[in-house]
Amino acid sequence: MFLDAAHFNCQTAQMSDRHLYPFPVSVNEAVEYLHNGNVVAMPTETVYGLAGLACNDDAVLKIFETKGRPRFNPLIVHCADMDMAQKVAQFNPLALKIAETFWPGPLTLVLPKKTDANISDLVTAGLDTVAIRLPEHSIARNILQTLGQPVAAPSANPSGKLSPTMSQHVIDAFEQTVPVVDGGPCEAGVESTILAVEGEQVTLLRPGSVTAEMVKCAIGASVAYQTGSKVVAPGMLKSHYAPNASVRLNAREPNIGEAFLGFGELQGEGDTCRNLSPKGDLAEAAKNLFQYLRELDGTGAATIAVAPIPNEGIGIAINDRLTRAAADRTS
Ligand code: TXA
Ligand code: MG
Repeated sequence: MFLDAAHFNCQTAQMSDRHLYPFPVSVNEAVEYLHNGNVVAMPTETVYGLAGLACNDDAVLKIFETKGRPRFNPLIVHCADMDMAQKVAQFNPLALKIAETFWPGPLTLVLPKKTDANISDLVTAGLDTVAIRLPEHSIARNILQTLGQPVAAPSANPSGKLSPTMSQHVIDAFEQTVPVVDGGPCEAGVESTILAVEGEQVTLLRPGSVTAEMVKCAIGASVAYQTGSKVVAPGMLKSHYAPNASVRLNAREPNIGEAFLGFGELQGEGDTCRNLSPKGDLAEAAKNLFQYLRELDGTGAATIAVAPIPNEGIGIAINDRLTRAAADRTS
């Protein structure tokens, strides 16, 4: 009898430890939570981010813990404006030109970190570079401006899983243990392009909706692609963005029992099929990518077969995410 009561008390204590937040929270509430060292999910034009004060070790630790993210994988610092960004990173003329062309927007720059940057070392995982971005989304901008300080924000999903492009995806993953600001569906649908700028050398670390071609046009010089096995952006691990189902690429039609993610004329039929863009529009396909992968995963199919996606423009980013979703999970 005594043991049962003790067991019961222990269980209630554990349950009450899990603070649940109302959904959604306002921008002002979000700013207050952030100010107090809590994490908050906020919309950006790419995907929802799990934000925490970049200068606060505890807030940054909470980000890693909430996501189950390995600590060696550094985070992106989100800033309201160039003044804020230049307190964190060193911009040479080339980096400035790229920033002026594409910010605010879905582009992240990896730059030398300033020695006096007020950023937790956990954010950069001990690197002497820092990834930095000025988001364009009005809610993200509003939060950053009101807060007046940079936030670290990885995508608001459990590590290795599909990125969230709707507030409901964040709720599904963390069950209201994280306050969420709702901004509707994200416009771009894939994470920001990541470029490293080292002197005059620009290297694409992660493709996104700002394409290498666009950067090349803006700077009038070539953009290198990351080569070799060195993991420069540790989040670019081979298996990432994974649904529960396995993924079969370049499929013209589903095999029996497979779900099908179509594109253009390759449609498929029935509840276990989606079309990323019946009219073959790559921007529309990017916007739908993670939501449709989730929906097809929800059918319980063991495999999602995916139609070929043209490897051009933002299609390069879509294929990058699909290839990682299809990668051998044991490697
Ligand atoms: O669109 C986005 O970038 C979203 C939204 C929320 O802003 N964020 C996002 O963060 O995708 P995350 O943590 O999922 O991806 C950040 C990537 C990781 O692959 C990480 O390894 C890389 O950026 N990264 C961060 N700091 C870096 C650094 N100093 N050098 C190289 N890669 C870095
Ligand atoms: Mg991510």
